[in-house]
Amino acid sequence: MCGIVAYIGPQEAHPILIKGLKRLEYRGYDSAGIAILNDTLKVFKTKGKVADLEEFIREKDVHGTIGMAHTRWATHGEPNNVNAHPHFSQSEELALIHNGIIENYAVIREELRQNGYSFQSDTDTEVLIQLIEYIKKKSNASLIEAVQSALTQVVGAYAIVILSKTDKDTIIAARKGSPLVVGIGENEFLLASDATPIVEYTKDVVYLDDEEIAIIKRGESLKVKTIRDVEKFPVVSKLEINLSQLEKEGYDHFMLKEIFEQPKTIRDSYRGRINCNNQVISMAGIIDHVDRFMNADRIIITAAGTSWHAGLVGEYLFEEIARIPVEVEYSSEFRYRNPVIYPNDVIIAISQSGETADTLAAIELGKQKGAFIYGICNVVGSSIARATDAGSYTHAGPEIGVASTKAFTAQVTVLVLMALALGQRKGTIDDASIQRILSELQEIPEKVERTLTLSPVIRDISRMFTYSRNFLYLGRGFNFPVALEGALKLKEISYIHAEGYPAAEMKHGPIALIDREMPVVVIATNSGTYEKIISNIQEVKARKGKIIAIVTEGDVTVKELADFCLEIPSTEEMLVPLLATIPLQILAYYIAVFRDCNVDQPRNLAKSVTVE
Ligand code: G6P
Repeated sequence: MCGIVAYIGPQEAHPILIKGLKRLEYRGYDSAGIAILNDTLKVFKTKGKVADLEEFIREKDVHGTIGMAHTRWATHGEPNNVNAHPHFSQSEELALIHNGIIENYAVIREELRQNGYSFQSDTDTEVLIQLIEYIKKKSNASLIEAVQSALTQVVGAYAIVILSKTDKDTIIAARKGSPLVVGIGENEFLLASDATPIVEYTKDVVYLDDEEIAIIKRGESLKVKTIRDVEKFPVVSKLEINLSQLEKEGYDHFMLKEIFEQPKTIRDSYRGRINCNNQVISMAGIIDHVDRFMNADRIIITAAGTSWHAGLVGEYLFEEIARIPVEVEYSSEFRYRNPVIYPNDVIIAISQSGETADTLAAIELGKQKGAFIYGICNVVGSSIARATDAGSYTHAGPEIGVASTKAFTAQVTVLVLMALALGQRKGTIDDASIQRILSELQEIPEKVERTLTLSPVIRDISRMFTYSRNFLYLGRGFNFPVALEGALKLKEISYIHAEGYPAAEMKHGPIALIDREMPVVVIATNSGTYEKIISNIQEVKARKGKIIAIVTEGDVTVKELADFCLEIPSTEEMLVPLLATIPLQILAYYIAVFRDCNVDQPRNLAKSVTVE
């Protein structure tokens, strides 16, 4: 979603800002803009890509060492030049960029109109900067006081940066609900909605907390206070990412790079958490709160998108290994339906970005009801990681492609370890089984390598299905979430309609769709339901559907029935999602490439969904 970057220091600001916006492109956006403060406050903005903005400012005077820039993902008002950020206040003394949504903007706009203010755009953002100016003038307040007062009046979420024509050496920024990071360099500061534009310049960062305002003045140290004027001591953290993780490193797309990184990222997810004789799983988050887990009558997993699919795998894992009942909830539904939550429930929130607004809200709800909240996040220092009582990072490294790949397999890896750690303590799984599964888990990176060698074959298959209009994905047991994830990948990046289904449910509806035009991807690896899924394949074949099957190496039966067969290495049934997902990611990738789609930034999608 929207991206923020701002700079103050000795260097020319605009190249840093444009580069920063490029680093943020992965979040998804539809317009971009920049404000530079020199002898005056200048704003340039345009619909389209950062490259369009770059072109637009080529001949303009954008010299200056203080500025801010924004990529907008439209919520209020269509994507066009006027609605793009930054937005000026009425007198053009102030300019603002904003991520998030001001929910009560309509009421405030009406009040401001009655006080003589007019509005250029359809955005909620413009209302906020007008409100700040109105308060500043009416109460003869300082800019900080006006910002504080305005932010106590607005309802909703924001990460904002403000520049003022009358204070050429100051940046003011604030956050609530939407992330904002301040990078502290040598005599310079960068601000951004995530660390990716900052890491090139400094590894020292301060994550602003909700309702905190950063006051950044040239030549002074960072000051933080709350919107209610309480001074805060800024806590400096070290960024763990490095620049190479943000580059494509020879791959055509980030998504392809991230698919091929999975042997390493899966290893990074379990590294240091298994002892050398495969007997003990050490996860600090569980060890420190073992009583909460042992006393839990059930686990509620809350997440969105791909992370929700990982949550479904988690349900199978926790129930099978640790015999704890699990419910898996879409965060967006959970937060609004007055769910029954008991104080001894454990809520596991799964999120790659750690910023998904609905998941954050679900966590808040769980907290209010006294439940223990455990986070599984990829982004270190993210809002969800900080809002939870304990948690485990997935250590997959920055994921730039909008379609999540390596984050999913890392989440599943962490869930496997958690389920085993709990099963071990509850005595619901014997030591020999734990050792067997853990030693198999450590074989997975090498098996993923082997699975990745299917890539050229999958590329050829993808060419044949490039123009299909629909796809069906079928799986059972641990492979049902894999089917959902495969379908999601395809629709996200190729815009082909795809549905994932539990294979046996097919006859309750989707079977009506099957004809010779319909590709059906079936995950038919060795499992307790192998024979059953063969019957499902027969049902598809009888209706002339085209079958692409994912099978275990050495399979004979499915091979005879399927039109295309992709063999993946044999493993423990509960670990199959870590392998079976890979060919589906590659299939979606190549179909999207052949359809000429923007693989890394698919239309309308955002990497980090910071609005509900
Ligand atoms: C967006 C992304 C998906 C992601 C989902 C949940 O829709 O495009 O890839 O799965 O949000 O995000 P999270 O960061 O919470 O895992």
